[in-house]
Amino acid sequence: MESTILQLSYLIGSVTFIIGLKMLSHPDSARKGNMVAAVGMTIAILATIFLYEHNGEKLHNFGWIFAGLAVGTIVGTLAAKRVQMTAMPEMVSLFNGMGGACAMLISMVEYNHMQHAGEAAATTGTMLVIVLGMVIGTVSFAGSIIAWGKLNGSIKDRTIPAGQILNFLMMGGVVVLSVMLMTGMASGAAVFYGIAALAALYGVLFVMPIGGADMPVVISLLNSFTGCAAAFGGFLYDNPVMLTGGILVGSAGTILTILMCKAMNRSLKNVLIGSFGAKATGGGGAGGKEQGNYKEISMNDTATLMAYAQKVMIIPGYGLAVAQAQHTCHELEKVLNEKGVEVSYGIHPVAGRMPGHMNVLLAEADVPYEKLLEMEDANDQMGGTNVVLILGANDVVNPAAKEDPSSPIYGMPILEVEKADHVIVNKRSMKPGYAGIENELFFRPKSSMLFGDAKKVLQSLVGELKQM
Ligand code: TAP
Repeated sequence: MESTILQLSYLIGSVTFIIGLKMLSHPDSARKGNMVAAVGMTIAILATIFLYEHNGEKLHNFGWIFAGLAVGTIVGTLAAKRVQMTAMPEMVSLFNGMGGACAMLISMVEYNHMQHAGEAAATTGTMLVIVLGMVIGTVSFAGSIIAWGKLNGSIKDRTIPAGQILNFLMMGGVVVLSVMLMTGMASGAAVFYGIAALAALYGVLFVMPIGGADMPVVISLLNSFTGCAAAFGGFLYDNPVMLTGGILVGSAGTILTILMCKAMNRSLKNVLIGSFGAKATGGGGAGGKEQGNYKEISMNDTATLMAYAQKVMIIPGYGLAVAQAQHTCHELEKVLNEKGVEVSYGIHPVAGRMPGHMNVLLAEADVPYEKLLEMEDANDQMGGTNVVLILGANDVVNPAAKEDPSSPIYGMPILEVEKADHVIVNKRSMKPGYAGIENELFFRPKSSMLFGDAKKVLQSLVGELKQM
């Protein structure tokens, strides 16, 4: 009976995880989806704690188990409540690292069990699962901690001399030692922990040279590693929830990595070797061309232009998130609507610093989801738009991506704002964005600059419009 309930709880855990993941694909259902998956997983965890049996024995260290759960819950809840939207990739990285560390520790504990039991039952298959879980979990743990340090600025980007060769040698060492351990050519804890040390070093050196701003892609990749490592844990314990969860996280992370690379028109190899950040920041400008003059627009003229427009499209970018201007942006949309102006938002897939950054930000301010246009739709509608208002976006509207083969972002799909009648760009200065390159759009005849912090500018704009 108990084993049936346990299996049933695993089924609930797996199904709710899949439903939750599906619900995460739309901002309206995302919160609920997260809840559904969390409730399912809680049921599976509690059932494991109270009903799981191994060789006729149940779990008994309830004090330790619940103390661990309490500490994790408190730390996780506080961290998630306090984190700023712009620091989200950093937190995801840290949490992902913890997942990797869990997978690593599971493998270590199970290896110790086998050693102490002097188990002849340790088949090559079991050993393979233990070693793979440990290696992938360790790489993910070490890499995620470095990624976290880079994102919060405590670790600087560093090129390691002969880094590629070193990495290759270390991975080679891991593979050779693992094969020796599994085939019995080498044995003992020293070999096992030697592999762990090499994997940790590999994780550090593999992430260290990658440009800090490329971290979201790397984090997504490491996330898929953690998923795989957890799936190996599922094999080890014959636990279907861990297996399903691990496989889903592993595949979701892989798909996300590929999507991000596609949206930036870069190969994963290019991201991992880190040439974009380096080339871009060192390169200086879009082919180093003379940029000419730009013109500024006053708040009053901006308000007039927008008030008499039929269609306005807002293009949000990283600067909007930094300024926390999403609520004021929604207010602008409402004021314009009251004046009979149709407002939509053009969303670039990599606007901001993490996948879905703009969607989450605008959903937080209750912007109706149907007003958010994906890049292709936004470009289709750009022709009939009177005013485009760019709020703290830069690379995602840079025409060099289409026109200048020498540009590091050449080939990246962009929002084609110049198809609209007027382009107003809000940012604080003429400084470049993430890719570190000049943006010729700012100097084009249709463009006008509206300098200032996005939130303050929007507040003034709303004020002007209300008086009209
Ligand atoms: P960026 O190109 O980074 O440009 C943001 C602009 O916002 C900057 O030029 C900055 O100019 C301005 N800004 C900063 N603070 C501001 C504030 N308080 N008020 C107004 N403006 C402010 O952003 P984007 O166009 O969103 O492009 C995103 C970039 O990140 C892309 O290159 C993309 O490839 C990369 N990336 C994205 C992701 C994901 S998944 N989203 C992952 C990895 C990399 P000033 O300093 O002059 O104000």
